[in-house]
Amino acid sequence: MDTAGQVRRQKPATAARMYDYYLGGIHNFPADREAADRVMEQFPMFPVIAQANRRFLGRAVEFLVGAGIRQFLDIGSGIPTEGNVHEIAQLAAPDSRVVYVDTDPVAVAESLELLEHNELATAIRGDLREPRAILDHPRLTKLLDFDQPVGLLLAAVLHFLSDDAEAYDCVGQLVDVLPEGSYLVISAAAAESFAPAGKQTQAVIDVYRQRTTTSAASRNHDEIQRFFGDLELVKPGLVWLHQWPDPTASSEFDDDPSRSGEWAGVAVKR
Ligand SMILES: C[S@@+](CC[C@H](N)C(=O)[O-])C[C@H]1O[C@@H](n2cnc3c(N)ncnc32)[C@H](O)[C@@H]1O
Repeated sequence: MDTAGQVRRQKPATAARMYDYYLGGIHNFPADREAADRVMEQFPMFPVIAQANRRFLGRAVEFLVGAGIRQFLDIGSGIPTEGNVHEIAQLAAPDSRVVYVDTDPVAVAESLELLEHNELATAIRGDLREPRAILDHPRLTKLLDFDQPVGLLLAAVLHFLSDDAEAYDCVGQLVDVLPEGSYLVISAAAAESFAPAGKQTQAVIDVYRQRTTTSAASRNHDEIQRFFGDLELVKPGLVWLHQWPDPTASSEFDDDPSRSGEWAGVAVKR
């Protein structure tokens, strides 16, 4: 193996690049693929869940644009892939502004490259556990106006915050600064889907804890609903990933909706 190959092999896996691999992307290294393969040994459904999560995110963004939202703060945005938030939002409303935030340097670098000629969207490196630093980032304050409604997107990221107190506090801090008329979008790993699998779930958590710098935890319906606090969930509420916004929509999870693996919901701040 050449030197560059050795360096790549030594890199720990990251949640962002593992997700990219589940989605069939090319921005991942051997360590990411090995870790993701270990996860898929336990839960072969992960790539299907990842695709379903992307589709939920797309539907939620379209809904927000329809509701008049023109500013998006997407935290834990991941490596760009099909159906990026700015593409969906700006197709429907070209004046939409988007700030992507991720801890992963590859996610941020790839996003910035993609957005080179897009003056209404940017990406910054930031940690959901440090909301103030995100909100004060000069590229964010240049693009987003917190006197106008904002769509805060937390898609498939909250399960990487395993400390409950910290997770609720950080989301609370972000929601506090949102003006009225803003929306919060959440999808997050469902304990109901993974808890019954006991050992398998622990094996997946161990892969993330041992091979990435990110911890992992799933939460049940009520625990995830708590993130919305006083916000008003729009219909149909917090439902299985594929059931938002239409609980009757047919999908690959029809036999057992809990196989979609995530709870998903959208709420408005009145
Ligand atoms: C599963 S991906 C989800 C990507 C995208 N939001 C989606 O739904 O398709 C989770 C992303 O969250 C990022 N992430 C994990 N912990 C984070 C944190 N504390 N702050 C910001 N991003 C984080 C990871 O780097 C990864 O890119």
